[in-house]
Amino acid sequence: MINTSVIKVTEDSASEIAYAAQIIKEGGLVVFPTETVYGLGADATNADAARKIYSAKGRPSDNPLIIHLSNPDEAIKYTYTNDIYFALAKKFMPGPLTVVLKARDTVPLATRGGLDTVAVRCPENPIARKLIAIAGVPIAAPSANLSGSPSPTNAAHVIDDMYGRVDVILDGGDSEFGLESTIVKINDDGTLTLLRPGKITADELAVVSHVSISSAVIKELGDGEVALSPGMKYKHYAPKAKLILLDGNVNSALKYIQENKIQSKTAIISYTEDMELYMTQLPDAYLYDFGKKSDFNTQAHKLFYILREADKA
Ligand code: TXA
Ligand code: MG
Repeated sequence: MINTSVIKVTEDSASEIAYAAQIIKEGGLVVFPTETVYGLGADATNADAARKIYSAKGRPSDNPLIIHLSNPDEAIKYTYTNDIYFALAKKFMPGPLTVVLKARDTVPLATRGGLDTVAVRCPENPIARKLIAIAGVPIAAPSANLSGSPSPTNAAHVIDDMYGRVDVILDGGDSEFGLESTIVKINDDGTLTLLRPGKITADELAVVSHVSISSAVIKELGDGEVALSPGMKYKHYAPKAKLILLDGNVNSALKYIQENKIQSKTAIISYTEDMELYMTQLPDAYLYDFGKKSDFNTQAHKLFYILREADKA
């Protein structure tokens, strides 16, 4: 058990951010807010510090980490950049985009899970940017959840998973987007492969170069198939409770729930438009409002949050 300090911060908390940056420099673990989800950070150039991330998360060591930069130009020191990278950086950074490039030796193998590539991202959250800039090193950070669980989008959810496993938790309030960054790989021929969907869509990326979508994004991998993004082969974002996805209209969903008698101790994650019907028909269920049917930003913001709250209920 590590002694964990939980510190409330805003972008103006200079001394608190400097303290956390010092912990990073000394090889410690700091959880920090980003605009996507909370990250579990350590000095990306320090192999021992990177190994600590894997043990705190219970994550397999072949699943590489994203390195977070305070400025997109910093990528020159850690990767072999090219024109496509700078075109992506100009359009989408800082922001919720991660780009996979050939790695330089300045990034230890422990950080990149043994691969010859490394994923770089420049977050937009001002607390994250100040932390990285003051630490003076890129910060390797996966989402700050135990391996396999939904990613944390507020400090309470971080504390549930990481208290006693990290040195510092910086509480910067709710994550703005609530889903992880889009991950795209730049191929040798300059085309792009989308490895993980996110806020920045394939259509938006296509303005920069031709985009193909990795098959691991749209279907389960077959036996012996290799995931381009190692994380795609592991179970992800799973609550502890059983989760059933009902694909259909609200009446067929209600019918399914009633027929299968899954009313009590059940959490229902519903579109705003259907809330009232569930409330009257299933008064004993725990109800969560997922946002309006057409409001993808609200849905993204709430998905991981609701999965965790429903699990606790
Ligand atoms: O929004 C985000 O990206 C958050 C915040 C904290 O920045 N981070 C995040 O990290 O989601 P993580 O470790 O939970 O997910 C990173 C994914 C993993 O699936 C990993 O396999 C993949 O990125 N990845 C990392 N490096 C890679 C590489 N060199 N090639 C392909 N995939 C890579
Ligand atoms: Mg994750």
